[in-house]
Amino acid sequence: MENTTVAPHKKRALSCIQPTGVPTLGNYLGAMRNWVEMQDELDCAFAVADLHAITVRQEAAQFRNQIYEMFALLIAVGLKPDKSLLFVQSHVPAHAEMTWLLACHSQFGELSRMTQFKDKSAKHSDNINLGMFAYPSLMAADILLYQPNYVPVGDDQKQHVELTRDIAERFNNVHGKVFVLPEPYILKKGGRVKSLQDPTKKMSKSDENQNAFISLKDSPDTIMRKCKRAVTDSEADVRYAQGKDGINNLMEIYATITSKSFDEITAEFKGRGYGDFKVAVAEAVIETLRPVQQRFDDLMKDKAYLEQMMKQGAERAAAISNRTLDKALKKMGFVVL
Ligand code: TYM
Repeated sequence: MENTTVAPHKKRALSCIQPTGVPTLGNYLGAMRNWVEMQDELDCAFAVADLHAITVRQEAAQFRNQIYEMFALLIAVGLKPDKSLLFVQSHVPAHAEMTWLLACHSQFGELSRMTQFKDKSAKHSDNINLGMFAYPSLMAADILLYQPNYVPVGDDQKQHVELTRDIAERFNNVHGKVFVLPEPYILKKGGRVKSLQDPTKKMSKSDENQNAFISLKDSPDTIMRKCKRAVTDSEADVRYAQGKDGINNLMEIYATITSKSFDEITAEFKGRGYGDFKVAVAEAVIETLRPVQQRFDDLMKDKAYLEQMMKQGAERAAAISNRTLDKALKKMGFVVL
């Protein structure tokens, strides 16, 4: 008899990253590293969210280079173009089209409550544009077009993924089921890497203080210097506790990279003080980033290869996203030819 067992359908995951400057250790530990681990078990898609980046002004030549760099980094961190779907958002027109459909299902009140909108509009008060406000509708389009079950993001993006879920549910209730309801997928460790200079804030690539973040392109010397200058407290015990935000952050970074527990780290540095600990954190970061940086440098020398991978990704992404877009259009009553 013919074997009729069918392999269970793999669950899907999708995530994106904006090409606004070089990603930080926060982007890497909170998002990109998890993506690499997911690609064996799940059907994964990852994109460079370049359309999102223009909600704030970008200088054209620099912006173009950052898109190449971010795409190269996706591959450099270990994502495989033959395993995961890798693409650049603006190469797939369905994202912009779907945004309009979803914008008409996004409420003014809920968009006004988004923390990222509040932060960005405060920071760029001379350019509070419609795109900045509608950002979550575009993000919902990125996600819902690919029908993922999980959206692996850092803690700061949880609110946007939850809003995406609300928009999807609203759409499905009005027009009939089109979208899978996605769930944010956030790791306990690494989900919120903090600034090295103000550990109450998240580590951000747009921080004006260069010492506040470690960029994936920082040299070993720079990483060592930034870790040594990290703000801590006036005690000397390496232990995870309330009020020790700086040490807690360094412990999270070290724990995420080495897979050690907080207790093991405390035991390792007992009686040794913060100086030794900071050096160990820096060395762990340097060694984790070394192979990524090497691959990144090689990839950036081969733009033709990057463009070929972008093209291949865009074609696959278009096929998937157009199917979902057509389904949504039909359900809404548009004439789809
Ligand atoms: P972006 O480009 O700011 O960041 C990319 C990913 O990195 C995570 N991240 C962090 N994780 C831990 N600690 C930090 N300090 C830290 N900083 C950033 C973010 O949570 C994110 O997962 N709106 C998104 C991009 C986007 C998107 C999407 C994401 C556009 N469309 C669809 C998921 C699905 C953003 O600005 O991420």
